[in-house]
Amino acid sequence: MSIRSIVITGEPVLHNRTLEVTNWGKELRQLVADMFETMDEAPGVGLAAPQIGVALRVFTYDYPDESDNPRRGVIINPTLEVGPISNEEPDEETDSEGCLSVPGERFPLKRADNVRVTGFDLDKNPIQIDADGWFARIMQHEFDHLEGMLYVDRLVEPYASMASAAIEEFGWGKPGCSWLPGRDDIDA
Ligand code: NI
Repeated sequence: MSIRSIVITGEPVLHNRTLEVTNWGKELRQLVADMFETMDEAPGVGLAAPQIGVALRVFTYDYPDESDNPRRGVIINPTLEVGPISNEEPDEETDSEGCLSVPGERFPLKRADNVRVTGFDLDKNPIQIDADGWFARIMQHEFDHLEGMLYVDRLVEPYASMASAAIEEFGWGKPGCSWLPGRDDIDA
């Protein structure tokens, strides 16, 4: 296992739809092991394969709480059903989201309160998760990564402009930017 570099917004793999997993072999197990290790070191509550430069429909998550859902896992080839999204203004206290591929920044975004995720685990067993609250937010965020979408692409004003300004200020928004959890000290 190894900790992998996390690519930053501007890297093309983050901005294109990823491919279905078709080969459930040793390489997939190695990828997922690396994703767990990288996510834990970052630390993050979720990590999608394109964030370590791999254009496959795989994400890991780790969001322990007291519900019955498995709160740590991997989902392969997921589908997502999304409940209604409020039209209210996003709240900076309760709706602020971050992303390891836009490290150190947080901006508020309304998400659906309820989602259903289906997909497969590493042994190709089907998975279904009904999530709500912040766990539902994580599922939406990670699924978006597999569609080539970052949360900053969904922001409303004034946050969209603030995010663009921050990305420009850091010199991101172009290929070739990344950071390595455990080596680069980033307050993500
Ligand atoms: Ni993210």
